[in-house]
Amino acid sequence: EKAGFDHFMLKEIHEQPKAYRDTMSSRISADGASVTLNELSMTVEEIRKISRVHIVACGTAFHAGMVGKYVIEKLARIPVETDVASEYRYRSPIITKDTLVIVVSQSGETADTLAALREAKRCGAKVLAITNVVGSSVAREADDLITTWAGPEIAVASTKAYTSQLIAFYLFGLHLAQTLGTQTADEIKEVITAMKALPEQVEAILAQADALKVVAEDMAKHDNLFFIGRGLDYAVALEGSLKLKEISYIHSEAYAAGELKHGTLALIEEDVPVIALATQHELLEKTVSNIKEVKARGANVLGIAVEGEEELQKSVDSTFIIPKTLDVLSPALAVVPLQLLSYYASLARGNDVDKPRNLAKSVTVE
Ligand code: F6R
Repeated sequence: EKAGFDHFMLKEIHEQPKAYRDTMSSRISADGASVTLNELSMTVEEIRKISRVHIVACGTAFHAGMVGKYVIEKLARIPVETDVASEYRYRSPIITKDTLVIVVSQSGETADTLAALREAKRCGAKVLAITNVVGSSVAREADDLITTWAGPEIAVASTKAYTSQLIAFYLFGLHLAQTLGTQTADEIKEVITAMKALPEQVEAILAQADALKVVAEDMAKHDNLFFIGRGLDYAVALEGSLKLKEISYIHSEAYAAGELKHGTLALIEEDVPVIALATQHELLEKTVSNIKEVKARGANVLGIAVEGEEELQKSVDSTFIIPKTLDVLSPALAVVPLQLLSYYASLARGNDVDKPRNLAKSVTVE
């Protein structure tokens, strides 16, 4: 049942190209010029009325929501707030009839997320669910649904469900942009073309797993490490850090690269591993200056960079190169090496990768 892989997690990491294709294929027009989310019941009129979006989820699904915020704001120019589901209800969120609440849940059974969905509906908002389990509670109770076709996810650590959630956000962001006219036809086509290249690009990353194994085995000797990044790279840094803590039990922190010097820089000392995500072209120069700050304090920096960014390689100790894509799509590639690093670090520490301690696959209590 693990199809020749040692663990479900590794199998599911390798299933991502298929999960991307399955989640995208029926939703992109044959000419690659538009997306078609026929499953949505919301009308053009209803979409035009959306004045704000709330994205609510837990854990890894919340991290997908952070990317979703960026995507919707960039493509559709609608203001988006993100909340952890266990906080949302208790902060008296301002939910009006023109608020679209998006809940994201792999299992569709997470108690906090379900409670947030019910609260949103009680306040009269429309709820769109992004889930991986057809017929789950979240899927049944939401007004609208985008199913991620990642297939069953068995490993406790979420991988292919997260990346399929990113694809769902790209599709929905494009759907909004098409409806609202916030992007030109050419811009939409450019994003779709780049999305179609993602599955093969993930395959190219997976082919370099051995190099990541070597890095992970060294990481596993440390008790503390850092992930840094700006913009979308920060959202990916949070997910990379969660994944590592979850299965390797190595402590790590994810920081918006520019925030380090507001406190945490004191923890960067000789030989501390820092994984610096630098995939966002517009922010590259700023990220490099943050990398220099940690280098100056002795950090051992692994840069995650995009093909063609040779400049960055001079400022780091080692680099992992991901294929070229649009900045907005880079999380769908950049997270893959981080998943593999966590997997191999967990193995090196002799942990039960698929069933990390103290965690359940689906958290059905508050
Ligand atoms: C992390 C992980 C958890 C879940 C979270 C939400 O790898 O699996 O953080 O993402 O418990 O679960 P779902 O998506 O089922 O609502």
